[in-house]
Amino acid sequence: MTESPETQVSETQIAVHWREEEYVYPPQKFIDQANAADPAIYDRFSEDRFPDCFKEYADLLSWDAPWHTTLDTSDPPFWKWFVGGRLNASYNCVDRHAEANPDKTAIVFVPELESDEHVHISYSELRRQVNEFAAVLRDSLGLKTGDRVTLHMPMVPDLPVTMLACARLGIIHSEVFGGFSGNACGTRIADSGSRVLITMDGYYRGGQLIDHKVKADEAVEEAARQGQEVDKVLVWRRHPGQYASQIPMAEGRDVFVDELLSEHRGKAVEPVSMPSEAPLFLMYTSGTTGRPKGCQHSTGGYLAYVAGTSKYYQDIHPDDMYWCMADIGWITGHSYIVYGPLALGTTTVIYEGVPNYPDAGRPWRIAEKLGVNIFHTSPTAIRMLRKVGPEEPGKYAYHFKHMTTVGEPIEPEVWRWYHSEVGKGDAVIVDTWWQTETGGFLGTGLPALKPMKPGSCGPAALGIYPIIYDENGDEVPDGRAGNICIRNPWPGIFETIWGQPERFVDTYYRKYNKDPDSKDWRDWPYFAGDGAVRAADGYFRILGRVDDVINVAGHRLGTKEIESAALTVGEVAEAAAVPVIDDIRGRAVEIYISLKPGFEPSQEMQNKVTRAIETEIGKIARPKNVWIVADMPKTRSGKIMRRVIASISNFAAVGDVTTLANPEIVDSIRHQVQTAKVAKDDVPRELTEAEYEEIKSFGEA
Ligand code: WTA
Repeated sequence: MTESPETQVSETQIAVHWREEEYVYPPQKFIDQANAADPAIYDRFSEDRFPDCFKEYADLLSWDAPWHTTLDTSDPPFWKWFVGGRLNASYNCVDRHAEANPDKTAIVFVPELESDEHVHISYSELRRQVNEFAAVLRDSLGLKTGDRVTLHMPMVPDLPVTMLACARLGIIHSEVFGGFSGNACGTRIADSGSRVLITMDGYYRGGQLIDHKVKADEAVEEAARQGQEVDKVLVWRRHPGQYASQIPMAEGRDVFVDELLSEHRGKAVEPVSMPSEAPLFLMYTSGTTGRPKGCQHSTGGYLAYVAGTSKYYQDIHPDDMYWCMADIGWITGHSYIVYGPLALGTTTVIYEGVPNYPDAGRPWRIAEKLGVNIFHTSPTAIRMLRKVGPEEPGKYAYHFKHMTTVGEPIEPEVWRWYHSEVGKGDAVIVDTWWQTETGGFLGTGLPALKPMKPGSCGPAALGIYPIIYDENGDEVPDGRAGNICIRNPWPGIFETIWGQPERFVDTYYRKYNKDPDSKDWRDWPYFAGDGAVRAADGYFRILGRVDDVINVAGHRLGTKEIESAALTVGEVAEAAAVPVIDDIRGRAVEIYISLKPGFEPSQEMQNKVTRAIETEIGKIARPKNVWIVADMPKTRSGKIMRRVIASISNFAAVGDVTTLANPEIVDSIRHQVQTAKVAKDDVPRELTEAEYEEIKSFGEA
């Protein structure tokens, strides 16, 4: 299936004028200690030094065998980095630090319940746990290099232990965000061909120990329906020895990890020396079609890229207390909670729960207690904490030198609160634009060398050469919007979509490829799927997705996935999902439904649709509103005009509808939806010009 990565960046959007924000400069004391404070670094990564410049990142790792080819372009666009080199990711993130610094804390686990003690796991303790669990995988389950294993685990240290144990054996892990439903997990099990699912009985969220094992049974059933049998389900227990789930263990299939581990106490498992280009993990993400994409990341290139960017952009030093308040179930957690910081041998904090439990002061109490000095989170979390506890940061005596933001554009006013209140006016802020596919940061500034600009992700990262094209493949001038692409490969780029190599080429490289037979990387720009503008100073401003993806709280949801979920309800004839502007989550989802003949709209029907979406995808995709309409606005060829209903949901002008097959329906839907929204006080704030353009062109791809 080919995706059509057509742009929604319209002519009018091209004319959008940005108000340029003022620069904010880093404090001298930050510059004095920064890992990258000498501008000569830009020369080391200049384009004429590409690709060998990335040796600087690879040299942060310990290699079993050196590489002979930095970048192999023989099979474009399936790039291979550091070919001939061999290494093991688990050795790099664990053993070498355990040898040098056994007692140093690798992970601090902060349970959600504040009365529970923090757990400090030293590098030598982490080595013991990773070895023992690797023994379980190898000796009890018979897993071997190249096998795929699906993980559906929450934010507990057992998750990185599981990932690193897989990495030790060259087993490809595929962690599915714990908040995804059993069915979503099952689809990913089937797609990756995993025989083993590793899960947990329960975990704390919002003060409750919630039953997670229930999802494992649904996942296994769904995977079987899609043709993939799961032989074993490994269940970590949140409290070893006590089972937190109501769901019985399936005889012969389900096993408690703590019981298995007791058979492998003290075992050492030799790390398997892997080729640099061997897959390390899969991370699924959404695209234009309903089938999720298993982004395959490499061992050597990926690990080098996350180590290098952690060092220079997050400014991680060995003695820092580093906290990335994200979920390991997303790419941010893989790259910047687990692999990047551990490759550098620093201390990484893992917090189990929600940021505002039991109140909005919690993150700042954690920071104070642990002496966190680098803090990384998303605009959604910042907006929420700003709303519910604007005064809270000032009450606690922590001190951040550095803060990062990721996942969505951050509004300048929110940026300023983050800077003055959370950062106490003294921390640098590094905005980082990147994607599941890209492994690590693409657009971001070196904090000691480039001033900050609120709302802009900054210039291109070292060794990254972006270009903004229009629809015809012509470069757009500064100040104009277009499709942002990266002209060159880089070590963190994913290798392929698992099992869908044609979709990989079609989605990311076909659009701006200059010659399909070319072996020259210059002919294969990477199409990121985001609209962007470059300012005269080379800073980028990311406008959002140009495909049918809605970014909810920094998480990508495909409209097709949401609509397919709604269509599992028997009475539903048609479904169309659209984004609405949301002050906390950036965007929320609303879904429009038309029913098959003979069925009447009802609250029960709306609930059914919501439940179907939660079952198929998870609570994260739960629609803010379900609108059951008499008919959808359609073109004469029968295509649903998503931009029209998106405009209605956002109280924006619908534009020209005279070419619709059924223009009269527009007024009736508008009346129905907007009256209901006014009645429940759910009128969105006035849109900015950029938001207006986004909504007005939604779904035109
Ligand atoms: C958006 C998350 C603006 C963008 C790491 C991208 C951003 C998608 C930023 C990837 C940022 C990510 N500013 N927009 N700093 N970071 N995005 O795959 O649309 O979950 O394509 O990876 O999020 O989301 P993903």
